[in-house]
Amino acid sequence: MADDYNWFIEQVKERTGIDLNLYKETQMKRRLIALREKRNYQDFRSYFTAMTSDDTLQNEFLERMTINVSEFFRNRKRWDVLDETIIPQLLKEKKRLKVWSAACSTGEEPYTLAMILQKHLPLKDVSILATDIDRAILQQAKVGYYTERSLKEIPVELKERFFTKDRAGYYVSNELKQAVTFKQHNLLADRFERDCDLIVCRNVLIYFTEEAKRELYHKFSEALRPGGVLFVGSTEQIFEASKYGLETNETFFYRKV
Ligand SMILES: C[S@@+](CC[C@H](N)C(=O)[O-])C[C@H]1O[C@@H](n2cnc3c(N)ncnc32)[C@H](O)[C@@H]1O
Repeated sequence: MADDYNWFIEQVKERTGIDLNLYKETQMKRRLIALREKRNYQDFRSYFTAMTSDDTLQNEFLERMTINVSEFFRNRKRWDVLDETIIPQLLKEKKRLKVWSAACSTGEEPYTLAMILQKHLPLKDVSILATDIDRAILQQAKVGYYTERSLKEIPVELKERFFTKDRAGYYVSNELKQAVTFKQHNLLADRFERDCDLIVCRNVLIYFTEEAKRELYHKFSEALRPGGVLFVGSTEQIFEASKYGLETNETFFYRKV
């Protein structure tokens, strides 16, 4: 049984470049067994073999292993800290900021960033790189169409300015879209940016093993310029941040020393 799963992990890595060994095993295995059983495969070997000749099955697998839940202004109070404290600090040092939203899912996070940044500088000067491992959700992010539910935390004035309602949901305005560039990127395998002023990476580190997380903290630290800030999710505090050349600025915000 364990061999079957390990074999599967190796094959997936070879085929997609995604290393499932770096994700917490119990959680990931549970999700994948549920999916495999839903499709009536007895073991991972037959499931993988089927996947190699069936794109729908492979895409379904990729969608399941990346957990895409997101919303605008997720944990609103943290975004208020970003708006009121962190961005003004960063803008004291520089007029334009290099901003990276890593593991951005369907785009709510980078669009939230754009809405906040445009309060501090002209929207034409806002430029955000938004990346995720999952190509399909990046397509959705580019379209920028959302249900009422994911907009519930957006301040009214921003909702009115940057969204257009139709019968089933809301479109993000082109003006806001122009501030964001989406690109596929695997945090566990691809090269990182350099000289970032602000990196937002939230609600993905929780899925990774401790070892993978440590490696990522080093890489994020290297990707920031001195004085740059890493913003993490509300359950993702970094213990011993100084080991990575980071210091706590506000809770969930770490500044590169
Ligand atoms: C729960 S969502 C978080 C979205 C957003 N950051 C937020 O906080 O609302 C997790 C995202 O991590 C992405 N992800 C998972 N593994 C990844 C990896 N190795 N590299 C980049 N993104 C990854 C998933 O595709 C998914 O979109």
